[in-house]
Amino acid sequence: MQTAILNSDNHGIETAAKILNDGGLVGIPTETVYGLAANALDGKAVSKIFKAKGRPQDNPLIVHISDFEQIFPLVRYVPLKAFALAKAFWPGPLTIICKKSDLVPEQVSAGLDTVAIRIPSHPIARQIIQKAAIPLAAPSANLSGSPSPTTAQHVFNDLNGKIPAIVDGGRCDVGIESTVITLVCDTPRVLRPGGISPAQLEEVLGKIEMDDSVLKMIKENAPVVSPGMKYKHYSPNADVTILKGSLDKFVAYVKRFDKESVVALCFDKEDEIIPIKCITYGEKDKPNQQAQNLFDALRKVDTVGAKKVFARCPDVNGIGLAVYNRMLRASEFKVIEL
Ligand code: TXA
Ligand code: MG
Repeated sequence: MQTAILNSDNHGIETAAKILNDGGLVGIPTETVYGLAANALDGKAVSKIFKAKGRPQDNPLIVHISDFEQIFPLVRYVPLKAFALAKAFWPGPLTIICKKSDLVPEQVSAGLDTVAIRIPSHPIARQIIQKAAIPLAAPSANLSGSPSPTTAQHVFNDLNGKIPAIVDGGRCDVGIESTVITLVCDTPRVLRPGGISPAQLEEVLGKIEMDDSVLKMIKENAPVVSPGMKYKHYSPNADVTILKGSLDKFVAYVKRFDKESVVALCFDKEDEIIPIKCITYGEKDKPNQQAQNLFDALRKVDTVGAKKVFARCPDVNGIGLAVYNRMLRASEFKVIEL
């Protein structure tokens, strides 16, 4: 199969909608990362996603809709807090978990009795959903385990030959996946930090909880609410370690390694000071920029032939928590305090 990269014009959107209605897969742009979409109401179409990505069967998918009313047939009931969250953050990078209805196939929920739903704000994503007139199940459109794609080219690099088409909607604005919050518990609980920060959620909901898996390694076989959080994720082939501490200490630490095989993942301008090969991922005090650039930077480290990567540690304010969460997984929780 040859994978077509379609423009995000009427022809591209119509072609994508037709493939989706026929039970096929399409890579679609969203404001967070590119998604690999299938008809969420067609279990057979949804199983193709798992095959193309090499995704573990027990990891459920997010269902994307274009208008709030489309949530009703997908869930048993809409919790009051979901109305408030939707009003504040939809369309946008927030995924809400509710009890699922029988309409949602078990391939989407991976056997759980819940379903994750979001309305993306990317105009092309919403036009594709509207044109296809079906909810779309879509995980990030990367091979399972590798960094999420923030350009159509990233999707092509991972899935060429495995899917019929990708719609090119340019570079993703947010650059990191949506915040996932479950309302199927007494206190709303963040299962994955993302484009909407904890402070923004608290403004609408009051008290929220952070799942343990956000900042801690979950033991193999431990029961988890968010199966996605137990896998090694977002990783380049090179071995990543996070170095916590000042730039001076970072420089002193990396100096001892063979220049040819190590790379620094650092903030803008620091490449003028760090004496090894550097890949930058945004300004030090700009977590939004870091979110936009992180996955592209993680993909770049493999193209420069690095064996070991030392990463400057991001601050955890706002969307920075999501940046740190992704970096922790990319490094398999290897953090050195300098
Ligand atoms: O921004 C995003 O969320 C992107 C774009 C394409 O929308 N999608 C995305 O999907 O990141 P994915 O599959 O890579 O991540 C979905 C996360 C996983 O950690 C999964 O375990 C969790 O959401 N999830 C999905 N349904 C769930 C459910 N019913 N209960 C608990 N966790 C769920
Ligand atoms: Mg993913």
